[in-house]
Amino acid sequence: MLRTALLAASRSPQIRTMVEKFPLTHAIVDRFVAGDALDPAIAAYKELIATGRTVTFDHLGEDTLDVSQATATTDAYLLLLKALEENGIAAGADVSIKLTAVGQSLPVDGEKIALENAHRICEAAAKIGITASLDAEDHTMADGQLSIARDLRVDFPSVAVVVQAYLRRAEGDCRDLAHAGSRVRLCKGAYKEPESVAFQGKHDVDLAYVRALKVLMAGDGYPQVATHDPNMIKIAGQLVEWNNRTKDSFEYQMLYGIRPEEQLRLAAEGNTMRIYLAYGQEWYGYFMRRLAERPANLTFFLRAMATR
Ligand code: FDA
Repeated sequence: MLRTALLAASRSPQIRTMVEKFPLTHAIVDRFVAGDALDPAIAAYKELIATGRTVTFDHLGEDTLDVSQATATTDAYLLLLKALEENGIAAGADVSIKLTAVGQSLPVDGEKIALENAHRICEAAAKIGITASLDAEDHTMADGQLSIARDLRVDFPSVAVVVQAYLRRAEGDCRDLAHAGSRVRLCKGAYKEPESVAFQGKHDVDLAYVRALKVLMAGDGYPQVATHDPNMIKIAGQLVEWNNRTKDSFEYQMLYGIRPEEQLRLAAEGNTMRIYLAYGQEWYGYFMRRLAERPANLTFFLRAMATR
């Protein structure tokens, strides 16, 4: 119920205005978002790499219906890549692209524009040895995401595809994607989806996650285990052993600000631990999904509001 309400709120302009105006919001948002501009994001990245972690950057934004906004987001990624190169800290980094932020939802030529913009980002990234990943959004965007990924992978085979385990199609998608050289980030899924396309309860989603992970770990690709769930992490470790995988043949991923001690533990064991580092001014949708994932985050937020 609460999750549904928060996910609905994440798309409400009225609630957005209210939340953005609340004076203490920023202090709470800072837990999940590494600042509203490039400089704090670079500073957060430096801290993460100093402690053995690596990063995928997300310049926040989604669902744009404006061509100039899609271009502006693309330019923001190019600026980020330039800054990483100039600071000499590009090695090992990745950028996560939300295709709806670079044009996929535009009413005319959305997919074509998203492909062109994502191609520009991948090209600039490849020049400095950075990889790119295509985030997964609303299920209606999934076919488009896979089709754009196929096109991008012609020129940039390292482009990673994100699969949401809660989608009933996930296991089949993982089978198609588990080939040599294919980087696949498996997450549970963060959106409100109808029962016809997605498993609903935590238990069913967890089972679906394990089924999809088994496919990826048994395949020839490069699984990216994106979860904070201790059970999923334990099972991932077992699957690594059963499939005789080496530490350079998969990685763990977590969101910035969530379970930092566990991030450090996994990195200290010699695993690649990649942190999804979100930054920028369009934090509202991302922040509300983080509240929806964990009621304790909401309690913290409401308590701050009440004591104000
Ligand atoms: P689950 O939600 O069951 O949580 C397990 C435990 O993790 C909790 O008990 C708690 O301890 C901790 N935890 C989880 N979320 C927390 C939070 N917000 N705050 C504090 N603690 C929390 N989704 C999507 O739809 N498309 C995408 O492209 C991506 N990309 C992505 C990248 C990376 C690197 C990660 C880690 C996740 C995503 N996600 C995503 C989000 C993902 O789908 C999912 O919503 C969250 O990861 C939460 O699910 P868990 O697997 O952590 O399990």
